[in-house]
Amino acid sequence: MDVKRIPAKKGDYNLQNYEEMCETFSWDDMKRNFTWNETGKVNMAHEAIDRHAQDPNKKNQTALIYSAPNREEKLTFGQLSEQSNKFANVLKKYDVTKGDRVFLFMPRSPEFYVAFFGILKTGAIAGPLFEAFMEQAVRDRLQDSEAKILITTPELLERVPQEDLPALEKIILVGESDAGSARYINYHSEMQTASANFAIEWVDLEDGMLLHYTSGSTGKPKGVYHVHNAMIQHYATGEWVLDLKEDDVYWCTADPGWVTGTSYGIFAPWLHGNTNVVRGGRFSPEDWYGTLDTHNVTVWYTAPTALRMLVSAGEAVVNKFDLSSLRHIMSVGEPLNPEVVTWGLKAFDLRIHDTWWMTETGAQLIVNLPSEEIRPGSMGKPIPGIKATIVDNEGNEIPPNQMGNLAIKEGWPAMMRAVWNNPSKYESYFVNGWYVSGDSAYKDEDGYFWFQGRLDDVINTAGERVGPFEVESKLLEHAAVAEAGVIGKPHPERGEIIKAFITLNDGYEKSDELLEDIRQFVKTGLSAHAAPREMEVRDSIPKTRSGKIMRRLLKSWELGLPTGDTSTLEE
Ligand code: WTA
Repeated sequence: MDVKRIPAKKGDYNLQNYEEMCETFSWDDMKRNFTWNETGKVNMAHEAIDRHAQDPNKKNQTALIYSAPNREEKLTFGQLSEQSNKFANVLKKYDVTKGDRVFLFMPRSPEFYVAFFGILKTGAIAGPLFEAFMEQAVRDRLQDSEAKILITTPELLERVPQEDLPALEKIILVGESDAGSARYINYHSEMQTASANFAIEWVDLEDGMLLHYTSGSTGKPKGVYHVHNAMIQHYATGEWVLDLKEDDVYWCTADPGWVTGTSYGIFAPWLHGNTNVVRGGRFSPEDWYGTLDTHNVTVWYTAPTALRMLVSAGEAVVNKFDLSSLRHIMSVGEPLNPEVVTWGLKAFDLRIHDTWWMTETGAQLIVNLPSEEIRPGSMGKPIPGIKATIVDNEGNEIPPNQMGNLAIKEGWPAMMRAVWNNPSKYESYFVNGWYVSGDSAYKDEDGYFWFQGRLDDVINTAGERVGPFEVESKLLEHAAVAEAGVIGKPHPERGEIIKAFITLNDGYEKSDELLEDIRQFVKTGLSAHAAPREMEVRDSIPKTRSGKIMRRLLKSWELGLPTGDTSTLEE
């Protein structure tokens, strides 16, 4: 096979000797970078924020640049430390203690980051929710986690089904509101009177830090549980993969409701004491290039969907901006098309480095390193300390160039430690000592991994993971819908879009208005990104004899592919 290769430019990269490091590195080496290695006092908020605030040379450095169409604000490490202390005191006042779940449901804003670290300082577990979630999505997550406190905005309050959430004691509202309830607390008035001194809760490395809900192919979203120990790998990958140096201005475009927005939008850059750009508002090519230009961003972590939209926006747009500060670009979340890598060489005169990982893995595992050759279309190679391979269904390794299930030797620092309330789900990820990802891939003779697709029915639309079950369940709640089967359909810009096949209940006639009504029902009940972009009414939905929807068959029909084994199909 003729594979295009892009050699590394010569440069002063943090990780130069990849091959040698793979031989010699042990995760214990990385622990020496942390103060707890000597003091025994652990807390992510200390390592990422307070440690810098206590350093006279870093205290007044900008930690956060928040930039949105209607708001620009900067916070130094000193300010972020002090304000998160105040917020931790607010939480303490309302009886938050170690291990409690405190959820955030709000747009990106300086208050989000202040509250986030305030939560960690109390030893509680933070649960960030994507702001576009609607009532059903919010209900599922707050019920399963039994969140005690929710931080949200008055605008989002109507999507919080308070009567269904008995464990929820208080709601902290960020913004002016005249809504009255004994449950409500106002963020701004509490912060005004809170003390800026807080005795941080020292925790164990294995204590809970974060719950990220994510989708599988069956059942409701699952709470992926991460512990403070993950910081070892956030730090390591910040050094090797993000290649962060002291003066870098870093921008990760992901929302903190998704794992990229926490591991790499919060932890990695601040563990390294970098200035971190957060952009609010919607995507537009002008605004995004403008952000890179205005803030002189040097290291940029983004996603294929966004890059594809920038490609479509054309050269004239990119040429309006001065992007000469930019020195390193990475991508995550979906396959990175080789054409986009080629475009990047022209548009930025830089390589775009693909990285592969998952909510469950907590941090990057397979990557293109700045010092290594890139093979466009490949996710790259495992970072030092990680053993990756391809396994068959029994968890046995299979030879190079054969497709199978991408698997990682269990036990890396940022690995999830549980699925909340669901030990059997957690165990199902591990086979024969391997964490089995559910992604199909192959490895070439030189150890580069090539992504092929999902082995289950999980949909990846514009980089966001959507479980078909969640969408099908919502569709069934609509009075007109009798049965529903949901698949991902390939799409040039969004990777996949959601297509729903439905049958109608008696008394309903197919019409454009009805289909639009059903679509809106999912959009306003669950979330915009989970709403089907295409819908098709059928006489029946194919099911197995045991009643499972055969999504694979729907997909084969949709794409005109061979249907394979249909022996379990119900008559
Ligand atoms: C997909 C995002 C191809 C994959 C950090 C994985 C990718 C799922 C890549 C996890 C990549 C992630 N190339 N596919 N570089 N990175 N994926 O949990 O299917 O939102 O299993 O985590 O995204 O999505 P999640």
